[in-house]
Amino acid sequence: MLLFKEVERLQLYLEKKRKEGLTIGYAPTMGALHQGHASLIKKAKLENDICVCSIFVNPTQFNDPKDLEKYPRTEGRDIEMLVGLENDVLFYPTVEAIYPKGINIPTFDFGQADKVMEGKFRPGHFDGVVEVVHRLLDIVQPDRLYMGQKDFQQFTLIQHMLNQMGSKTALMVCPIIREKDGLALSSRNVRLTAQNRKNAPIISKTLNQLNDWMAGGLTVKAAEKKAIAQLSELPDFKPEYLEIVDGHTLQPIEKMSDTDYVVVCVAVWTGEIRLIDNVILKK
Ligand code: PAF
Repeated sequence: MLLFKEVERLQLYLEKKRKEGLTIGYAPTMGALHQGHASLIKKAKLENDICVCSIFVNPTQFNDPKDLEKYPRTEGRDIEMLVGLENDVLFYPTVEAIYPKGINIPTFDFGQADKVMEGKFRPGHFDGVVEVVHRLLDIVQPDRLYMGQKDFQQFTLIQHMLNQMGSKTALMVCPIIREKDGLALSSRNVRLTAQNRKNAPIISKTLNQLNDWMAGGLTVKAAEKKAIAQLSELPDFKPEYLEIVDGHTLQPIEKMSDTDYVVVCVAVWTGEIRLIDNVILKK
């Protein structure tokens, strides 16, 4: 695996490969890699000639400085995992390399899609995500970009951005990878207390019950309420939001028949750790 820290050297290398007619798949990450990230790399390797992974803990997307400070950093293990996966290129830039003085990132119009859920509870978060993904794409210029379904709102906004840019990069969304008990893999899971880790599968279990509850006669709003109540029963669990939304616009729906694409998204505080998850209810 080749390791690049400098933007210009990576660009020169990739330019050469592009001229040779090779395709580039790209998985941006913030490190603390787990099997969810591995699934992106495996898919990118299968579908492209060269797989680029980046590790960059982007300071501008952390609305909570404590979260940034405590974000797990596992460089040695990450590199070992990438070598094991036969990843071709690792881009490991500094903050200065990503945000040199005078860099200008265009703004995008997401309508209301960035105002709800994560956008509402983590002010400024998506400004940081869009800023960094735009910059990283400008550097890597991949044929295909690989992101996880776990960050549903994130990949939806990035797709909007790519559309508005008229970008040739295709966004490939990979399914959520879960532990055997249903907990969605996340770099933050390692910070859960033993008790909260034990109780955490209730999150996906609840999301998976929603269709049955609605088939049994509950309205969308009543089902959301029941799910929030169920999650709130556990000590230390505080749902921040649980919303059944239109998968295209991310706006709340009233009835399942309102749209052809329905997803439920949730954020739950489990002690000091905030977990997110989602399940597609209809597509
Ligand atoms: O999902 C993530 O890990 C990050 O938000 C991303 C896309 C790498 C941007 O920093």
